[in-house]
Amino acid sequence: MTVDRRITGGTVVTPTGSVQADVLISDGKIAGLVSPELGLAADAPTIDATGKLVLPGMVDVHVHTREPGYTHKEDILTTTQQAAVGGVTTIFGMPNLAPPTTTLDSLNDVFELYREKSIVDWNHNPAATDPAEVEKMGRTDIRAFKIYMVVDTGRTYPHPAGTGMHDHGHLLQMMDIIATTDKRFIIHPHDQALMDYIEGGYLSRGENTPAGYASAYAAREGVIWDTAIDLILRLAEASGCPIHIAHMQTRRSIEAVRQAKARGVDVTCEVNHWALFLSTWHDVETLGPYALSYWVPDDAREAVWEGLNDGTIDMISSDHAPHTREEKEVGWTQMWSSHTGTPGIQYYYPLLLDAVKRGKLSLERAVDAAAHQPAKAFALNTKGRIAVGYDADLVVADPEHSWTITNDGVLSKIGWTPYDGRPVSCFLDATLVRGEPVALHGDVVGKPGQGRMATAQTLSH
Ligand code: DOR
Ligand code: ZN
Repeated sequence: MTVDRRITGGTVVTPTGSVQADVLISDGKIAGLVSPELGLAADAPTIDATGKLVLPGMVDVHVHTREPGYTHKEDILTTTQQAAVGGVTTIFGMPNLAPPTTTLDSLNDVFELYREKSIVDWNHNPAATDPAEVEKMGRTDIRAFKIYMVVDTGRTYPHPAGTGMHDHGHLLQMMDIIATTDKRFIIHPHDQALMDYIEGGYLSRGENTPAGYASAYAAREGVIWDTAIDLILRLAEASGCPIHIAHMQTRRSIEAVRQAKARGVDVTCEVNHWALFLSTWHDVETLGPYALSYWVPDDAREAVWEGLNDGTIDMISSDHAPHTREEKEVGWTQMWSSHTGTPGIQYYYPLLLDAVKRGKLSLERAVDAAAHQPAKAFALNTKGRIAVGYDADLVVADPEHSWTITNDGVLSKIGWTPYDGRPVSCFLDATLVRGEPVALHGDVVGKPGQGRMATAQTLSH
């Protein structure tokens, strides 16, 4: 075996705990964890991780790259540049593009774009609305389908025609088809009928504001989320389709998932950066449209942290959703006309490691939620862990290096982050994808096309 690279002197977070070891990399794989004292005959290039943490790269299954179609906001290159410095080594893109990814042809076109442009490893979640196309796409190497549980109004943004499905019969039909594939069904939960009634009240009172929008989506302890999630859990149970629920944020829905898992339902779910770090009422008041996504009331956020800690919420995913300042500014007076969603792929892993330092969760659980659980749920069998035979998708993190997030450091096309001014206690020194550095000391060193499609390969030792 030739060792191509050695990461020396770090504390390595492995599936069986944290150990002091050097990581040996050969042919893009982790070839060994050895004592720092062990000399090797051939000198390989090294990365010095003394006093630092060596972690598996984050696997982010919920990313809006905006390409094709909305490249004034972002594109695959800028998304994956942020991924690289943010410690994300695999992304799954989302289908609300132009054209939306609803057919095998459009899926193949998107694959081509990633092949040319992505710095990190990638896959894509097409929308499951057309049964014949779903069957065809189900035979490709995708790992999941996606649906927005909204009434398909045919509008262009954020849920273009062909990406929304609210009809219960159609949802069950899709689950029946996906259950025959080896893919998971990612669902953005929503209850349009309830939302029409609730938002109608806010709008008729002239509350088309960030506070009104925030309150409407969280109304009655998040009833729109809870009813949607109850329904999809029941349909998952009725169909045997493995599902994944996007952006968990209410107490009852977390409890519902907890109970469904206990019954054996094949459900996984995620929490997005904004729910943990950007969802206080203070954030809504000061950042307005820039903070929305959604408001998560304090008691709900507590339930989210609890669910993340006990594993009910399996994983973190960014839901990186960049929009220009112009698209956000309108929201101060017309929030329902503003584009919702917040960017975050560049900062989620560091913010989570900062939360570890603040005692919000253990380092092992943070790494599990960022890397192992998403890899496991989506059968990326060679990713998400630091163990022999796995892809050398690695992050070197310095827990003694405090820094501050600023708009100046944003690599997104939009040039802003809702975290501008936020101190973070852990800096990511290096990110490697299959053994090759893609970011060093906060700078991107990866090249477009360096990323490969992440598939359900089997692990070979
Ligand atoms: O707020 C949202 N933004 N919700 C979505 O479902 C899509 C996302 C986006 O793409 O910006
Ligand atoms: Zn999303």
